[in-house]
Order: sequence, then structure tokens, then C-alpha cells
Amino acid sequence: MLPSWRRLEALAVDPPSIPGSFASDPSRPSALTVSASLGATDVLLDLSRQHVDHEVVGALVALADEAGVARVRDAMFAGEHVNATEDRPALHVASRGAEGADAAAVREARASLDAALAFADAVRNGTERAADGSRFQSVVAVGIGGSDLGPRLVHGAFGDGALECRFLSNVDPAAPSAALAGLDPRTTLVVACSKSFGTYETVANVRAVAGWLAAALPDPSRHLVAVTERPERAAGAAGVAFGRTFSMPVWIGGRFSVSSAAGLAAALSTGTDRFRGLLAGMRATDDHFRSAPLSSNLPVLLGLVTVWNRSFLGRGAKAVVPYSDALAGFVPWLQQVSMESNGKRTTADGGTVRTDTAPVVWGGVGTDAQHAFMQMLHQGTSVVPVDFIGVAGRGPGGDALFANLLAQAAALAFGRDGEPHVACPGDRPSTVVALGEWTPAGLGVLMALYEHSTVVEGALWGVNSFDQFGVEMGKRIAGAVLAEIEGTSPRGGSDAATEATLDWYLLHRGSAS
Ligand code: F6P
Repeated sequence: MLPSWRRLEALAVDPPSIPGSFASDPSRPSALTVSASLGATDVLLDLSRQHVDHEVVGALVALADEAGVARVRDAMFAGEHVNATEDRPALHVASRGAEGADAAAVREARASLDAALAFADAVRNGTERAADGSRFQSVVAVGIGGSDLGPRLVHGAFGDGALECRFLSNVDPAAPSAALAGLDPRTTLVVACSKSFGTYETVANVRAVAGWLAAALPDPSRHLVAVTERPERAAGAAGVAFGRTFSMPVWIGGRFSVSSAAGLAAALSTGTDRFRGLLAGMRATDDHFRSAPLSSNLPVLLGLVTVWNRSFLGRGAKAVVPYSDALAGFVPWLQQVSMESNGKRTTADGGTVRTDTAPVVWGGVGTDAQHAFMQMLHQGTSVVPVDFIGVAGRGPGGDALFANLLAQAAALAFGRDGEPHVACPGDRPSTVVALGEWTPAGLGVLMALYEHSTVVEGALWGVNSFDQFGVEMGKRIAGAVLAEIEGTSPRGGSDAATEATLDWYLLHRGSAS
């Protein structure tokens, strides 16, 4: 066990009280707040309302040093096969052209991204037109997981409405018609994004939307483009002809792929100037992550505090509450980035982890969260650390939102006395991450900050943050169960629980198409 791990275990026995620490150290706010200018974006990371003090933070930074976080980071940038189980690099930073990223990878990633962005420009400026010569008016983005959540987040934050953009991810029978409602196939472009083109949901939805196009267009291929790492597989898998296919490198993980050609739907929605702004913010954060000392490295500190709360203080969950409607897509995106990366129990070298790993990441937008789940965080029996995300630079109109963010952090930290039903215990931890302005670059900073803090956490837990074997089992079982439902496989092939519930389902299956 690393010396600093042992030290932190000792410190975790009696962690600093938040109210007590503020009472005894007036310099606490400034001492435990780091600010940085990442590109054009000022960022604040305020850890003063966490159960940490100088000693804890010092031991955490020592842990990052002893655990080789910098080595893992540098190996990732250099294109080493940090994704050991799949024997490949993890080079999402290459698509941002980050300093220190493997040069060949940067060239490849940028070439595929530039092709996608050029297409987005052509669609938006009318150079690329629909089959009948009219301009495209709408986009339907088909994809799921990393092929959906990042583009959907960026669209929700900075989509400019020049194109009506819809997102279709689930195999809910109502999903295609909901996504296509009110759209005209003659002016609709479908972007099918699937790194593998082996995802049942995406293939099914591509077929559904292609059928919708074909009903109105003699040759729908001009209205169908694919983004994939498997171009040779795309057309066959979906049973459609794609007019264009954009590649993405195999060494950019799906959940880290928004800054690659997989971000095409986002670029169509926001315009490539804003999308390039997003990339610039990500690039600035990449450079900061690669070069800042561990003790003032924002992704490192954010990751260390997650590990402190999870592995030393035993907090099984982490709430993330962005105070901005534009960040409605942030928590779903982060859930995949964090929990699909670090929700593991096996170390990268095949051993068994000796501590709890990824917390359950959940949350929602503030101030709505205050009217949904914050009650439990104030007076419940579980202590749930919160990452509050705030945006400044919005003028007086942003005051109430930011005031509410600060109020929630204060109430959690300091609580209040009163009769039992009213009293709030306080001493409940939170981090404040604040952006100095709300721009595409600021969103890029925020996304890269959490991408990299996830990698820091994985390095500290010793897991491979870049594979996701845990999701394969469910896919296999679903295929077998569906075959039983559809009658292409005999009943009885599944476990007893599944067979029993299937009996009920088949009685209630109905015939509605
Ligand atoms: O959730 C499993 C997963 O493989 C994710 O890692 C990925 O982002 C998603 O499914 C979609 O995969 P694809 O882009 O290959 O369709």
C-alpha cells in the first residue's frame, strides 16, 4: 500500500469538520480555492466546503504523485496503449490537437474531424443540398451512449436553431415518430453515429428513419450520412446506403468522442465556429492538465477529492448540480464518462481493486434540484458530496441562479439549529466549479475538466478507464431474450426469472405496432 494511502486512511478516521475548519481558519476560502485561466475562460475550483484541510490536500497530492497520475497522463497523451485490455491508446486529446499528443494521431484525428466540420459548413451554407436541390432544414441524429450524449449536450447548450436538430437514441417504439414529428423528409438530413455499428438500438433506428426517407425520396442516400470507426460495416449493418461516411479513430473511446467526428451532429446544430470554440476550450484544459503542477492542477484536484470522498470517507454517491438550463445534458453525459470509465472492480493488470471505485454519479439542474432532491441532501441520513457548477458573466439575470447555488452550498456546509424536524446537520461537503463566462469554450473547459478528472480517478484506483466489458453481457442477454419473444429461438433458453417474467410479458405483449 502506498505510504500516502496509509496516511489518508489515518486522516479519514477524523476528517476536518467543515464548520469547525472555517471557524478556526479565516484564510480557508482562499487557501482551498484554485482559479485558472484556461484559454479565454476563467475557472474557479472551490474545495473549501469539502472535508479537507492543508494536511489532507497535501496527502492527496502526494498520493497522486506516488500513484503515478502524471505518468498515466503523459502516457495517454503520448499515445501509449493505456487501454491495455483492448491494446490501444486513448487519444481523444488528439482531436483537439493538444500539445504533447502523439503527432500522427493528431494528424489522423484532425483529418477526420475536419472532413466532418467541412460537411457541416456545407450543409449550413447551402453548398451541400438535399436530393431535390433544396437546402436541408433539419437534422436527425441517430446514436446512443457516447454517440449521443456528448452531441446532445453541446446541441442543448449552443444549438443556434439554424437547423432543427432532433436526437434519436432509444428503441422505444414511440421514439422514431417523436424524433421525426413535423419534419419533412425532403429537407431532412440523418446523421447515423455509431463507432461500432454493432449497437442494436442505433441500427434499428437507422432502419426506421431510412424507411421514412425512402417513402418520400427515390434515393435517400444523399440524406443519410454515417460517422463510424467501421465504415465497411455501416451500410451492411444498417441495410442502407450512406451518401457520406465519416471516420473516427478506434483509439477515441465513445464516451470521449464528442470532440471527434462523432460530434458532427453537434457541429451541425451549433455551427462550426462555436464547435471550434468548444474544441479550443477542451484544448486549453488539455494543456493545463498536461503542464500544471499536481497541487494546482484542476482535473487532478477534482479527481483527488472524488477519491477522498469515495475511497476514504466511504461516500457511495456524488451529486452533480449544474446551475444552468443549458447544461441539462451535462449529468447524463458525465454519468457515462465517469461510471462507464471507472465502475470497475478489476485493476488494469487483472487484479482485484482494494477499495471502492466510481461513486454513483447523479444529479440534475439547479434550481430545479432544490425542488426535487435537495431535501435528502440537507436532512437525510446519507452524506452525498455535491459538485455545484456555476456560470458567471451572465449579468444581473444570472444573479438569482448563482445566489441559489451559493445558498445550497452554504446550507449543506453550515446547516442550522432548530427543533428536530427543522434542524439541518450541516457539515455536508460540496465543491463549487464556476466558469467566468458562458461560451462554447467554457463548455469545452468543463467537459475536458471532467474527462481528465475521470482519468485521474481511474489512475488512483488502478483501473482501466477506457474499456467497458461490463456492458457486453446485457447486450448478449437482450439478444437472446428478444429472439425468444420474436419466436426465432425456443422458449426456456433464459434463466428462470427471465422465463417467468417473459410468460407475463407475452400475455400482455399486445399487438399494437
Ligand atoms: O454503452 C456501451 C457502448 O459501447 C458505449 O461505450 C458506446 O458509447 C455506446 O455503447 C454506443 O456504441 P456505438 O457508438 O458503437 O454505437
